[in-house]
Amino acid sequence: MSRRIAVFASGTGSNFDAIMKAVEADRLDCEVALLICDRPGAKVIEKARTYGVTTFVFDPKNYPSKADFEQEIVTELKKVEVEWLVLAGYMRLIGLTLLHAYPSNIINIHPSLLPAFPGKDAIGQAFEAGVKVTGVTIHYVDEGMDTGKIIEQEALYVEEGESRDSLQQRIQAIEHKLYPATIQTILNLGDKRRERGTKHEEKSTT
Ligand code: GRF
Repeated sequence: MSRRIAVFASGTGSNFDAIMKAVEADRLDCEVALLICDRPGAKVIEKARTYGVTTFVFDPKNYPSKADFEQEIVTELKKVEVEWLVLAGYMRLIGLTLLHAYPSNIINIHPSLLPAFPGKDAIGQAFEAGVKVTGVTIHYVDEGMDTGKIIEQEALYVEEGESRDSLQQRIQAIEHKLYPATIQTILNLGDKRRERGTKHEEKSTT
């Protein structure tokens, strides 16, 4: 169970692809047991199929509430026994149903140096603001919009006269390296946490 993750995505899935490539290259020691996608027809679904990753695709419009579709997601996650939920371009706030089912075990990647430019189109926001430095943040997920505890950040300088497209490409190149590496670190920490818990249990039963 310890090294099984689920990826949540809504769109292109370039980060999903980077995670899968890292797994295949043994740079990331885990199994991607499930892709959750809230947009039928999103490109990431086809990517998951080419990697042989099981998908759970749903349309939020078919559920009376967020709690209802999140409850179904939890059911699917329990079936495949994942420990970590990795958001990679999942364009939806995580609700209390998922947060309570996986406390402290949901992470997200965001294309800015949080707390600057949370929410949608962070790259466009930074570009329009004319910042000289921006970057990528990986953070734990809480009930807010990109507000959880920061795990990792990498900065880059915006070049003089750089186009938005160029900035986006350079930010995504950082994401594709930083996310697999950070997931690996998080999984290792999870293992240590569990070992300590097991030792503690052993001690307390002797
Ligand atoms: C990434 O820039 C990520 O930081 C943000 O959404 C984008 C998803 O891109 N949360 P992709 O679908 O992984 O290509």
